[in-house]
Amino acid sequence: HPTYVVIGHPIAHSKSPQIHAAFAAQFADHPAVSRFVYQQLLAPLDGFSATVKAFADAGGRGANVTVPFKEEAFRWVGEQLTERAAAAGAVNTLVRQVNGAWQGDNTDGAGLVADLLRHIDLRGQRILLLGAGGAARGALLPLLQQQPKSLSVANRTQSKAQRLLDEVAAPWLHAQDVSLPLQALGFDDLLDEVVVADGSQFDVVINATSASLNGERLPIGDAIFSSKALAYDMMYSKGETPFLAQARLAGVHTRVDGLGMLVGQAAEAFELWTGLRPNVAPVLQWMREQI
Ligand code: ATR
Repeated sequence: HPTYVVIGHPIAHSKSPQIHAAFAAQFADHPAVSRFVYQQLLAPLDGFSATVKAFADAGGRGANVTVPFKEEAFRWVGEQLTERAAAAGAVNTLVRQVNGAWQGDNTDGAGLVADLLRHIDLRGQRILLLGAGGAARGALLPLLQQQPKSLSVANRTQSKAQRLLDEVAAPWLHAQDVSLPLQALGFDDLLDEVVVADGSQFDVVINATSASLNGERLPIGDAIFSSKALAYDMMYSKGETPFLAQARLAGVHTRVDGLGMLVGQAAEAFELWTGLRPNVAPVLQWMREQI
C-alpha cells in the first residue's frame, strides 16, 4: 500500500510520483522515509471523499491533491486548515495528524516563492500578479510575506482582482498591522501609454492566468516591465510559453517558467510529511531534462 498519494482526475500525467521518489532517494537511509511510498490515485469525479477515506483506512499518511479537487479538498477538511490554505481557498496537501484527522495545507504559493527567491530577492520589489483565479489567490499571502514594495493584481475581469485584494490581501495585512500599496487593475490599465504616463512599472511580473493553456497572448504592453524585471510564468512547457515569449520580445532578461514551482510545492509537502528538507536543484534539473 502507498503511504502517500497524489489524487486527481485525470492523474496519469502527474509528475509528482517521480519528484517525490527523487526526494526520498536523497534520504535513503533515514528512518523518516523508510515507509515513504508515493503513488498516483485516480478518484472518480464524484468520488473524492470516498477515495481519501479508503486511502486513510488503508493506512495513508499524506496526500497531494490536484485538478479538479483542490477546492473540494478545502471544503472536505472543514476547520483543519492552515492560514495559507484558508487564504487560498484550496488545498493541495493533506497531512494526517497524530489523532487521525486530516489537516489541509496549500504549498503552491510557497513553492512559487521558493522558486522566485532562487532568482531575485522579493523584498522591496514592485510585484504584478496577472490573473485572479485560484492560482493567483494561492500566491497572495506567500508573496505578501516577502515584504514587497507593492502588490498589484491585474485581471481580464478587473472586479475579480479587486475582490481578491479585498477578501484576502487587505484583511491579512490589516491583521499583521502592515501597510503596503495594493492595486487592482484591468488589463486595459496595462496598455503602454497609461503605464508610462504614471511611471508604474513592475520588477516582478507573474503570470497566474490560464491564457497560456490556449496559447493566447495577454493584452499587456511592453512598458510594464522595469529595466531589470523578472517575468515568471506559473505554466511550463517543453518550449517557451507564450507569456515568456512575450516577455522576451519586451526585452525582459530574466524569464522563468513554472517547473520550479511544481518541484517547489512538492518539496514543501515532502517536508511537511517527513520533516526533511529535500534539495530541489538537482531534481529540477532532472525534471527539465525529462520534459
Ligand atoms: P486557475 O485555477 O488556473 O487560476 P481559474 O480559477 O479558472 O484557473 O482562473 C483563470 C484565470 O485566468 C482568471 O484570472 C482568468 O481571467 P477572468 O477572471 O477574467 O476569467 C484568466 N484567463 C483565462 N483565460 C484568459 C485569457 N484568454 N486571457 C486573459 N486571462 C485569461
